[in-house]
Amino acid sequence: MSLLLPSSLYGLARPFLFGVDAERAHEVTLDALARTQNTPLAALYGAPRVADPVDVAGLAFPNRVGLAAGLDKNARCIDAFAAMGFGFAEVGTVTPKAQPGNPKPRMFRLPEREALINRLGFNNEGLEAFVANVKRARFRNDAKPMLLGLNIGKNAATPIERAVDDYLLCLTGVYPHADYATINISSPNTAGLRSLQSDEALDGLLGAIADKREVLASRHGRRVPLFVKIAPDLDADQVAVIAATLKRHGMDGVIATNTTLARDAVAGLHHAEETGGLSGRPVREASNRVIAALRASLGGGYPIIGVGGILSAADAEAKVAAGADLVQLYTGLIYRGPKLVRQAAEALRARRP
Ligand SMILES: Cc1cc2nc3c(=O)[nH]c(=O)nc-3n(C[C@H](O)[C@H](O)[C@H](O)COP(=O)(O)O)c2cc1C
Repeated sequence: MSLLLPSSLYGLARPFLFGVDAERAHEVTLDALARTQNTPLAALYGAPRVADPVDVAGLAFPNRVGLAAGLDKNARCIDAFAAMGFGFAEVGTVTPKAQPGNPKPRMFRLPEREALINRLGFNNEGLEAFVANVKRARFRNDAKPMLLGLNIGKNAATPIERAVDDYLLCLTGVYPHADYATINISSPNTAGLRSLQSDEALDGLLGAIADKREVLASRHGRRVPLFVKIAPDLDADQVAVIAATLKRHGMDGVIATNTTLARDAVAGLHHAEETGGLSGRPVREASNRVIAALRASLGGGYPIIGVGGILSAADAEAKVAAGADLVQLYTGLIYRGPKLVRQAAEALRARRP
């Protein structure tokens, strides 16, 4: 995919990047970021971080705009995202073992709707390589560093009944290196994963994760906040059950939402019938509905990170109006470039009472 090139270069690079296969463009861009971060060339995309400090889930976020998971699955470019002015970045989803993901092609642009469909399927280099990359990152040397979220999942080959084993392995591996960890149970591209959102399965999974967190907290002397990432394809009753289950197990927040399986907003467009998760503008309203339903169920004060279809500063404001405390971007970066980070962060700062 495209993206994340320096604001000044983004306009020049976009036609080239949009001219090649979406996943190839994504790889080229990430390689460029990985190579240039922490070199003088990073000045090309360096943007001052908007200062809008906010405490959420016991963490001091420097501003309210974060990078959504899945863009940097192997945690290779953390310092580049810090340089772009994000208040936080979430990398992963990581699985215990390396896996190739689904056959290619598996990522498609729908430019008429500023959308993407992907069925990558957690392609990643595995937990060990992921943690090694996180440890190499230098962003924490900043005076007011960006925060880092580490997003965990399960291998495709692990039976869904054993999913908890994979989450516990990943949680144990990422724990000492995370400002927060995200339990991803909402990717549509790993068979059965979303079934973990239903009452009994969620109860069992979060119970085991909460117990493991207690053990890890005493081992490492630090209680790492845990967020759970959910799908947009849920009705208000399902959201209410999930909200109650998160609270019961002491989860620290919720990330809403992942990509959607719905296709009504893109019907008839080229690629609309590709299997996978749809992101970008078409998921915006569904995501806002889930955020509003979560806020209604959870009441004030419970952390919600809003994500899905933020293409402009006004979209970021709408997420906060729906009930989000923080926001994240992915597809908006592909279509609008990194200047969206600053625009969104400034708009949210301006809303401060
Ligand atoms: C190509 C692609 C890969 C993604 N991979 C992941 C992932 O590995 N883990 C995850 O939690 N979300 C993943 N997501 C979902 C995004 O983090 C985000 O929740 C979703 O795309 C909606 O936000 P957006 O409209 O700003 O893209 C992925 C999204 C895209 C487009």
